[in-house]
Amino acid sequence: MSDRETEKRLAAEAAVALVEEGMAIGLGTGSTAAYAIRKLGERVKSGLAVRALPTSAQTADLAREVGIPLIGFDRVTSLDMTLDGADEIDPALNLIKGGGGALFREKIVAAASRRLIIFADSSKRVDTLGRFPLPLEVNPFGWQVAAEQVRALGAQVSLRSRDGTLFTTDNQGYILDCLFDTIEDPAALERKLKAIVGIVETGLFVGMAEMACVAVGETVHEILPAN
Ligand code: 5RP
Repeated sequence: MSDRETEKRLAAEAAVALVEEGMAIGLGTGSTAAYAIRKLGERVKSGLAVRALPTSAQTADLAREVGIPLIGFDRVTSLDMTLDGADEIDPALNLIKGGGGALFREKIVAAASRRLIIFADSSKRVDTLGRFPLPLEVNPFGWQVAAEQVRALGAQVSLRSRDGTLFTTDNQGYILDCLFDTIEDPAALERKLKAIVGIVETGLFVGMAEMACVAVGETVHEILPAN
């Protein structure tokens, strides 16, 4: 396992250690989240009773495979804790998410959770957000209009495709990857983006994370938001 993969696994496992008996848990999406899902599956096999709400079809599939009981918003409208990865984490624990395209469901699940715990390898920590292109989920009809308005805010915008095929989300949306370089005021940018018609949700998670478990080598740091 590479150093990066070891960091992902250790960070994810530290977050899973916070899960307690009886909790309703939101489960994030991505390669780091996969480590958390597998670890939670081990704990369930050892007798831990939890229910989990997945943020993507990919996460639901893996959770089923490892034996984690799943629930939906038809059964619960609030969750004890959500465990999720991130693409960038700033010192205030503002995040860029959506590299895996699940940002819309991830944000709904995070918003429904009393606690949002993020886990990541050391490469995800940044002083200022924006080097990672910010993913935005947009409605397929008229996405070009939204893209033009995001360009006017200073971003280089590209419509996401994978292997030459247009990427569609679990909600049949498109993703715009928007390179801002630096996002000095994430809250202000979030307000501007949310005012653009056609943007369904943004990958900016501002003031939502309670703690980040970040592994540096073999040590996991539990990071709280800096003021
Ligand atoms: C998916 C996400 C992921 O949490 C984010 O992209 C990090 O993924 P990975 O753990 O694979 O680096 O937001 O929408």
